[in-house]
Amino acid sequence: MEKLIINGQKRLNGEIEVHGSKNSALPILAAAALVNGVSEIHNCPRLTDIDAAIHILTHLGCRVSRSGHTVTVDATAMNNWEVPDELMREMRSSVVFLGAILGRAGRAKLSAPGGCEIGLRPIDLHISAMEQLGAVLEEDAGKLDFHAPNGLAGARITLAFPSVGATENIMIAAATAKGRTIITNAAREPEISDLADFLNGSGARIHGAGDSTVIIDGVERLAGTCHTVIPDRIAASTYLLAGAVTQGKICVRDIVPAHIGALLPVLKEAGCDITASGRWVCLSAPPRLHRVKMTRTMPYPGFPTDVQAPLTAMLTVADGTSVIVENIFESRYKHAAELVRFGAKISVEGRMEVIEGVPYLTGASVVAPDLRGGFALILAGLAARGETVITGLEHIDRGYETPEAVLCALGADVKRIQEHGTAKEFTTEQPAADRANSFAPGDRLSGTPQSGAAE
Ligand code: EPZ
Repeated sequence: MEKLIINGQKRLNGEIEVHGSKNSALPILAAAALVNGVSEIHNCPRLTDIDAAIHILTHLGCRVSRSGHTVTVDATAMNNWEVPDELMREMRSSVVFLGAILGRAGRAKLSAPGGCEIGLRPIDLHISAMEQLGAVLEEDAGKLDFHAPNGLAGARITLAFPSVGATENIMIAAATAKGRTIITNAAREPEISDLADFLNGSGARIHGAGDSTVIIDGVERLAGTCHTVIPDRIAASTYLLAGAVTQGKICVRDIVPAHIGALLPVLKEAGCDITASGRWVCLSAPPRLHRVKMTRTMPYPGFPTDVQAPLTAMLTVADGTSVIVENIFESRYKHAAELVRFGAKISVEGRMEVIEGVPYLTGASVVAPDLRGGFALILAGLAARGETVITGLEHIDRGYETPEAVLCALGADVKRIQEHGTAKEFTTEQPAADRANSFAPGDRLSGTPQSGAAE
C-alpha cells in the first residue's frame, strides 16, 4: 500500500501548469465510441479514471493507444455494447458511456453504476432522457438493458436538475439521432462546452453548449477528429488553495480564469491577493487567512462542489468561523472527521458545515475518504506542524496527476512511499498501452456482445 508523508509548514512558491480536465476527458473518451473513425485526444490527464475509461473502450472493441498525454481511439471496429459490472465499478462516472454505446449500437447493456463515497448518485435523469430519445429499458438483476432497434429520435428534454452527466449523455446520444433534440435546464459547466467542441469537430451539429438550452441536430455519422482537452479547473483551484493555506505565492499557468470565477472572490475574502490574465492566475496569501462567511456550492457558474473539501481544509486555519453549504451531493463531508484529527474544529449539520478557525494544525495519520476529500487532507498536512501520513491514495490518483511531484516543485516536503518504506522514484515510463483488441476494421455493430460477428 502506498502512503504520502508530508512535513508541513513549508511555504509554497512558484509556477505550475495543471493537467487536462478529468471531467472533460472522460465524456470525450466516451463520445469517441460514437465516432466511426479515429479520434486523437490531446492533453488527456494520466489518471486512474482515464485508465478505467480506456479499459471500457478496449472492451467495446475500440483500438486504443496512449502516448504521453495523447490518447488515440479507433472506434471503427467497435463491436460490443455491454459493459460488465467490474468495469462499471472501476469508475463511478462510467454511466457517461451509455449515450455513446446506445447511439452507435442501438443497444446498451450496463450495470447501474451504484453510489460512491459522496452520495447515492442516482441515474434517473439519464434513464428518462434515453427513453425520451426512443430507447426502451429492460432491467434484470441490476443490469440496465437499453434497446433502440430503430435508432434514436430527437426529443425536447427538460432536466429536473442541471445534471452534468445527464447533459453529456443526451448530447452524445442525440448527436447521431434522427432530428432535433433540445435540452432545457442543461448543465453549463465548461466540460459541457468542451464535449460539444469535440463532437462538433467530429461533424456533429450542437449549438448553445454552456447555456441552459442546448440544441442538437442529429447527423448521419461522425468522423474522426483531433481535440485538445481544456485544463482541469478543479485541479487549478486545489493548487491555488494549497498556496493559500501555506502563506505562499503561486501562479497557475495555462488555465482559463473564467472557469474558476466562483473561487476567486472567496480567495479574496480570505485575504489573498489575486491577479489574473488571459491564461494564468496568481495568488499571494496573507500571513493569516480571514474566515469566509458563507459559501454555497451550486451548479456552474456557482461555487463548484468539487472544491468544497479543499476549501474546508483551507478554512480550518482561517481567523474566525466560516460556513459552507453543500447543495449538490448529500454526503460530501467525509473529510471533516479526518480534518478534526489534525485539530480542526468542524461541525456538520445536514448540508451545513461550520468551520471554526484554529491557530494551527498538528500533523496526523489519516485516510483519504474520496477524491476531493483526499486532497483536503493533503492541504491540511501542508499547513500542519510536524508529520502527516495519508493513505487511501487510490482515491486521490483518480483525479490528480502525481500530486507529490507538483507540490515538491512548489517547495513542499512530500514523499510517496510504498508500504516497505522506499520512496517511489518518479519515472517517465508509461504504463503499457492497453493491448488493442484485434477487430477487422469496418465491422458494424451486431450480434451478441463480444461476438465480433460482422453483419
Ligand atoms: C459530475 O458528476 C462530475 N463528474 C463530478 O465530479 C461533479 O461533482 C458533478 O458533475 C457536479 O459538478 C464527472 O464529470 C465525471 P451530476 P455527475 O449529474 O455528472 C443528482 C469529481 O470529484 N442526480 O451533475 O455525476 C446527483 O445525485 C466528481 O471530479 C440525480 O438525482 O454530477 C447529484 O446530487 C465528483 N439524478 C446532482 O444531481 C441523475 O440522474 C449532481 O449530479 C443524475 C444526477
